[in-house]
Amino acid sequence: MNKFLSLSLLLPFSFAYAMDHNMDHSMHMNMSNMNHNMMNNMHHNHNTEFPYNKNFKFEREMLLPPLLTGKLQGNVRVFDLQVQQGEWEFIKGKKAKTFGYNGPILGPILALNRGEDTKINIKNHLNEETTVHFHGAIVSEESDGVHNSDINPNDSKTVTFNLDQEEATLWFHPHPMHKTASQVYKGLAGLIYLKDDKNKDLALPNKYGFNDFPIVIQDKQLAKDGSVHYMVSHHETMHGKTGGILMVNGIVNPFLNMPHGLNRLRVVNGSNASNFNLNFNGQKFYQIASDGGYLNNPVEMTELLLSPGERAEIVIDTTNLKTQDYLYVNGTKALEIRKTKDKSLSKLPTKLADIKPITEDLSKLKTLDFNLKTTHRASTINDAVFDMTSVEFSVKKGEKAIWNITNSSGMMDMPHPFHVHGAQFRVLERNGKTPPLNEQGYKDTILLDKGENVKILVEYKTEGLTVYHCHLLEHEETGMMGQFKSSK
Ligand code: C2O
Ligand code: CU
Ligand code: CU
Repeated sequence: MNKFLSLSLLLPFSFAYAMDHNMDHSMHMNMSNMNHNMMNNMHHNHNTEFPYNKNFKFEREMLLPPLLTGKLQGNVRVFDLQVQQGEWEFIKGKKAKTFGYNGPILGPILALNRGEDTKINIKNHLNEETTVHFHGAIVSEESDGVHNSDINPNDSKTVTFNLDQEEATLWFHPHPMHKTASQVYKGLAGLIYLKDDKNKDLALPNKYGFNDFPIVIQDKQLAKDGSVHYMVSHHETMHGKTGGILMVNGIVNPFLNMPHGLNRLRVVNGSNASNFNLNFNGQKFYQIASDGGYLNNPVEMTELLLSPGERAEIVIDTTNLKTQDYLYVNGTKALEIRKTKDKSLSKLPTKLADIKPITEDLSKLKTLDFNLKTTHRASTINDAVFDMTSVEFSVKKGEKAIWNITNSSGMMDMPHPFHVHGAQFRVLERNGKTPPLNEQGYKDTILLDKGENVKILVEYKTEGLTVYHCHLLEHEETGMMGQFKSSK
């Protein structure tokens, strides 16, 4: 293949677009340099920028994935998940080959109930192995979708669990060795709405598709024809795979109708490697839940930073928005909000949960140190890359420990969203101080910028082998992961 041809095939849609429209012919000669420089600029700002979204209109309505309640077989709630290939238009009129659960892109929302036996029948229709990991769910090794759980092409697998944890928005995605990043990038990600009866009188917006919306934010690199390919350069294995184009629920620049009053957005950062800073052009909004459930009280804010894997439920009062307004992500219009004449709730409850302050004697607990580092050679935890045959430490089921996590990436200036499987932890300290209010609830993923340190309190409630890792998926796949064992 000649050089120019291969370049144009690999060019992200955004650059190809820029090239067509903004660059004169002489610049084609320098494309390889040009591309490299643009990529560098993009990656050194970890709040990735999306300058090319403005080339597209807000003309398609936001996708609402089906909200599945499963079927009851006896006392067991049963769901079917088909992992499949499909075609999808991230950009109107441009078809891409994609992966999805029960459809061409993303996945359904599984509505689960706390304390209910749940069964998920998974069938893999892909031409490669996959697994399904339930991110944020407190489940044991057999249901976690990581160890010995590869589902080969055309094979099926059934997993069962019973979630005993707070009402929350969780999500599921693939987790096979060396294929997690590419499969997520091609579209595999679904949500879980876990409900707890104790909250049934909580007066929050909860009408799905009316005032309660799933918002999966991702960025991808699309080729000129709109297709999505997952290929990483050496640079991208270190810095993560970002893209020039931002999308919400798989659509570039969608619009969404919202009633007057309170609207709830369940936001998932489903990107491989981008931090997203969300705002409504300075309008205040409230965060009501973090990864693992409600915060004690709504936290007022005007912007919110979410790293890959993190979730936040936020409530915005559209009364203060213009008739046509926007959710901005890293300064780019990501979602157009169109106010309808309908009315939603007008008053947010002040008390949402009752998470107790941490009172136990921390000096009695053991402390485990995790040192995260990306160098030009690898991404490591405590200077080691992931080794399937090594178990870094063991804990007893029910035991608590302090995890002392440091981002010492040094020269590389990389953020690391640190994630623990099968647990919802509490944040004790961020850089030696009490964490901000929106990090005082339950979390399973926490962002550490360059030089930062966080201490978290982890109680392990399940059994078996499990993992912790950086949720910047290219870091995870190149070694920033470790495993530990929890036993009776
Ligand atoms: Cu969201 Cu180990 O994963
Ligand atoms: Cu996870
Ligand atoms: Cu990382």
